[in-house]
Amino acid sequence: MILSIFDPMKFIAKTLHGLEPVLVQELEELGAKEIRPLKRAVAFEGDKALLYQANYQLRTAIRVLRPIYHFVARSERQLYHKIYSYNWAMHFDVKKTFAITSNVHSSFFNHSKYVALKAKDAIVDQFRNKSGKRPSISTSHPDVLLNIHVNEDEFTVSLDSSGESLHRREYRDIGHAAPLNEALAAGMLKLAGWDKSKPLLDAMCGTGTILFEAAMMGSHTPTGYYKKERYNFQNWNDYDDDLFQKIKAEADAKIDYSGLQLKGGDNNPTAVKMALSTIQDLGFDDFIEIERVPFKRHEPSFESGILMMNPPYGERLQIRNINAFYKEIGDILKQQYTGWDAWIISSNFEAMKNIGLRPSKRHTLFNGALECKFQRFSMYQGTKKQKWAVI
Ligand SMILES: C[S@@+](CC[C@H](N)C(=O)[O-])C[C@H]1O[C@@H](n2cnc3c(N)ncnc32)[C@H](O)[C@@H]1O
Repeated sequence: MILSIFDPMKFIAKTLHGLEPVLVQELEELGAKEIRPLKRAVAFEGDKALLYQANYQLRTAIRVLRPIYHFVARSERQLYHKIYSYNWAMHFDVKKTFAITSNVHSSFFNHSKYVALKAKDAIVDQFRNKSGKRPSISTSHPDVLLNIHVNEDEFTVSLDSSGESLHRREYRDIGHAAPLNEALAAGMLKLAGWDKSKPLLDAMCGTGTILFEAAMMGSHTPTGYYKKERYNFQNWNDYDDDLFQKIKAEADAKIDYSGLQLKGGDNNPTAVKMALSTIQDLGFDDFIEIERVPFKRHEPSFESGILMMNPPYGERLQIRNINAFYKEIGDILKQQYTGWDAWIISSNFEAMKNIGLRPSKRHTLFNGALECKFQRFSMYQGTKKQKWAVI
């Protein structure tokens, strides 16, 4: 089925495991219609303006696809024929470069790369047979990026409107550091119900991702504000630059840094140096403060608030006694953070038990390939006996 350009446009925003509900909420706020959560994605409907807004403003999406063609194929020949019979000139011409990504879950097709290769051959052959010329492939920076999703014999071909993953906000140069994915950090803040009325502390902030995402979110800075790369929809035949500039200007006009209270600490001098240099580059020194200090000596400058931490898991960053390290985190929370909500993400479930507090909320998230628990420990105020739930 070829989807008509006159139908309401259907889109799919891809996200990370566990962030589907917050992406639904973000899409509702943007005015999307027919919103439907899927696995690591959310389907929705809207117009061209909404597509541009989704790319420029969504915090927990990593790309936005526009499905254009559904068909059924059970063999390579059928796949080639179906792709060849679609009119690709509707979307791009021979002067544009293109690339194809694919996700295949099928007993008819084993290799996703092979599906992409067959589809590429069919598209190139169609252009060459019609015009005598062929478009070039560019895997690094294609003008047009297509995605093929295969579920058994059902194919969906989509235009990828984003190109680069939307988690790349381009507000810093992180070199070789391995920070949290920005979309994950934004999702964690949303799952924690953080808003700028609450002070936020990340006492193991590393390069500062959680704090920078909080600064962007709390100030309504669009995620694409610092982006230098073009979005892929800007290469499409129907790209409307006036509309995109209008959307950007309207979103940028809402930026407001007032009321933000963000604090970070870390005991690694290199990480602190990187975080401070980003703060300086972005001019965020008025509302983000970061110091080089171990967690146990960090003096919270607020009475209460949200403490969010991504401590070492004992995977990439080795800690001599990981269980004792997590026990110390729990002890510090009990002694110094009464009145705070502490949110901790870790893939080390065994070590997490040593925190010695019962989580009052938990989510499963993935940091890259690592399955993580993201748990809240509510450090209630009150008598010492009622202060916390010890497991
Ligand atoms: C997984 S990294 C955090 C990465 C960070 N979320 C980012 O996006 O860059 C864990 C951080 O905890 C810091 N750390 C480890 N032990 C610490 C301690 N006792 N006190 C403060 N920071 C500590 C490490 O230096 C490291 O930067």
